[in-house]
Amino acid sequence: MPILIRKYLLLFLLFAALLPKAHSQNKGSITLKTGKFTTGDVPAWSQPSFIDTAWKDQKLGDPWQRQGFQNYHGFAWYRIHITIPSSLKTNSAWKDSLRIYLAHVNDVDQTFLNGVQIGKIGSFPEDSGGYVSKWPAVREYRLSINNPAIKWDQENVIAVRCYDGGGSGGIFMGTPYIDMLEKIDGISFDNTGESIRYLPGNKAEKSLHISNHFNIPIEGTFSYTTIDAATGKTLEEKSVPLTLTPFSGKDFAVTMPHRIGIEYNMSFTEKGSGDKRSIKQILPYILTPAISDKPQINGAKVAGVRPGSPFIFKVAATGKGTLAYSAKGLPAGLSLNRTTGVITGSVAKAGDYKITLTVTNSLGSASRALTIKVGDLLALTPPMGWNSWNCWGISVSDAKVRSSAQALIDKGLTGHGWMYMNIDDGWEAAQRANDSSIVPNEKFPDMKGLGDFLHSNGLRFGIYSSPGPRTCGGYLGSWQNEDKDAATYASWGIDYLKYDLCSYTELMPRRNSSLEENQRPYILMRDLLKKQSRDIVYSLCQYGWQDVWKWGPEMNGNLWRTTGDIEDSWNSLYRIGFNQARLSEYAKPGRWNDPDMLIVGQVGWGENLHPTRLTPYEQYTHMSLWSMLSAPLLLGCDLSRLDPFTLNLLTNDEVIAIDQDPLGKQARQVIKQDSSQVWVKELEDGSKVIALFNLQNSFQSLTADWDALNLKGTIKVRDVWQQKDLGTKEKGYTVTVAPHGVSLIKITGFTQ
Ligand code: GLA
Repeated sequence: MPILIRKYLLLFLLFAALLPKAHSQNKGSITLKTGKFTTGDVPAWSQPSFIDTAWKDQKLGDPWQRQGFQNYHGFAWYRIHITIPSSLKTNSAWKDSLRIYLAHVNDVDQTFLNGVQIGKIGSFPEDSGGYVSKWPAVREYRLSINNPAIKWDQENVIAVRCYDGGGSGGIFMGTPYIDMLEKIDGISFDNTGESIRYLPGNKAEKSLHISNHFNIPIEGTFSYTTIDAATGKTLEEKSVPLTLTPFSGKDFAVTMPHRIGIEYNMSFTEKGSGDKRSIKQILPYILTPAISDKPQINGAKVAGVRPGSPFIFKVAATGKGTLAYSAKGLPAGLSLNRTTGVITGSVAKAGDYKITLTVTNSLGSASRALTIKVGDLLALTPPMGWNSWNCWGISVSDAKVRSSAQALIDKGLTGHGWMYMNIDDGWEAAQRANDSSIVPNEKFPDMKGLGDFLHSNGLRFGIYSSPGPRTCGGYLGSWQNEDKDAATYASWGIDYLKYDLCSYTELMPRRNSSLEENQRPYILMRDLLKKQSRDIVYSLCQYGWQDVWKWGPEMNGNLWRTTGDIEDSWNSLYRIGFNQARLSEYAKPGRWNDPDMLIVGQVGWGENLHPTRLTPYEQYTHMSLWSMLSAPLLLGCDLSRLDPFTLNLLTNDEVIAIDQDPLGKQARQVIKQDSSQVWVKELEDGSKVIALFNLQNSFQSLTADWDALNLKGTIKVRDVWQQKDLGTKEKGYTVTVAPHGVSLIKITGFTQ
């Protein structure tokens, strides 16, 4: 299922950047830039003899909707004329197969070379089983050099029959090319975050699995280098000969110091051609100390609920072994399960209820205050949890949500305040029920059951829709059925709605429609949500248009997206994150700027999960900046595959406390330079957090200068990531910060 691009160019561009790039092009590769194109479907168009001169020229790699066929969906054909020189095969080292690479095809293709079918991916509507979109699949067709379909040194016609089921259509997300396959194309590295083990004595071991996917032996050399990037020193360098028999693999393990600045470079060089595959990475290094065995209460210190609405709140706590929970001062109507730590019930009367929570284990007990504010406002601290989009895309299912929830619990994330489980796009059936209520598709057999399961574990349940007729993924939206949908969500036990503008823009007179037109769909759903007998946190997703931060509160929006979609690259993180400065004044308890979800762990928007492309330094920056921004913290990764580094990154309670601070003040950007920035956030307890961000590609020394920050007094500094007191500092605090990295400090004892 493709995404709509007509109005959502940004989404398309995002996807273009997201999916893993196809294999690199080999020597002599010929790029296929343009082709002849027509809509319709005639079998004779596969034949080389067909005259297509009257067809339009199309750039290959861009959907046809962006090239003059804006509203067309259905069948269309490309005919690519290309002379295939025999020099391609003579210059090739392996001389085995010709590769025809067509990037991705939205949604189904059947490809012919000179009238001979060479590939087909997806199913056309007339096929048995009906239409199946396969836009995420890479079309890479390989033909033996002896295949008679190839006409060497003559003109060839690659004819591509495409079917677009909606949204964007045709060849996209990459530029097609032809080249010769080389042996190196058979080599791949299994390279995941899980392949790092942290060993005693400040050492880490990186393992790498190298596979040969071809049915021939591949001979070459495996090499690795470890470097200390902070000093530029090479720590170790080694090469070993390696022959991989057909379809075999080999594991390598390299040990290196576990500290900031360690980089490793691993490569395989194929003997015959000298071609190389390599990875270069920074060792993810752990900063957060191990969680104490003693009991500790974490997460939000304040929670909102409307009078009479069901309240569900799991006390976030850590500690070894079995924890016992108790509470003093719970208002009438609420009760705490002493074993699970989940508070449920409802409170009839508005007011602020101050409760003392206590958690006990065999090593002692910890107490902390929780204020339950019974009133109109929800999400008094930024929502924390998980959303399916950045990992599962439209392939989200009941099973995936349940296993993610289980992982959230099993990995202990609930003990740090992670609590929402939000289904994003891809849950809706193709048709509404006879009474026009929305129904989930076959991947979600029992929405109410799923909600009950989440609630029974103290988790909250989120869902996604669009005010338009279609969601961004092309599924049914709420348009003209808003009342039914709000009631259905409530009946399923929904606690959170992400309402994504998407195709509603087609109903607006102009792209740049008036404020009123932008607000209309959000007002409609606002009033319907208010009528439900349960609380539904309202997440506005319209990419920040018309300065939504100025009118989000009027919509009763608890959070509003301030930008287009994020992706796992420094560019995206930098562009989105550091541009939030001008929005500081708009964040408040219950009203949050949302710079989009977290891009750490295994992400991939569907079928191509991969470890985030952010470096470890950038990931520390990501979590630090989002916490400084009081941003919603929604994980977008496969929770069942959280590696130790990512888990550590997400369970630093002092960092989380910055995000969840009850004051709800977004940090201010105090110093802005090309190479660094300093942001300051005020916390409820009167302390401040300072983030020193290094925007350079190399290590640099940064200073929090008390004078420049207008701070006086005997200032005590605490390193938040390391949870370590650094003592008092007279003039300021100077620290070496990694490339694109951060130093996050909390200061106390100052006067202003
Ligand atoms: C838009 C939103 C994303 C996601 C997708 C789902 O792109 O911005 O966060 O919800 O739609 O299709």
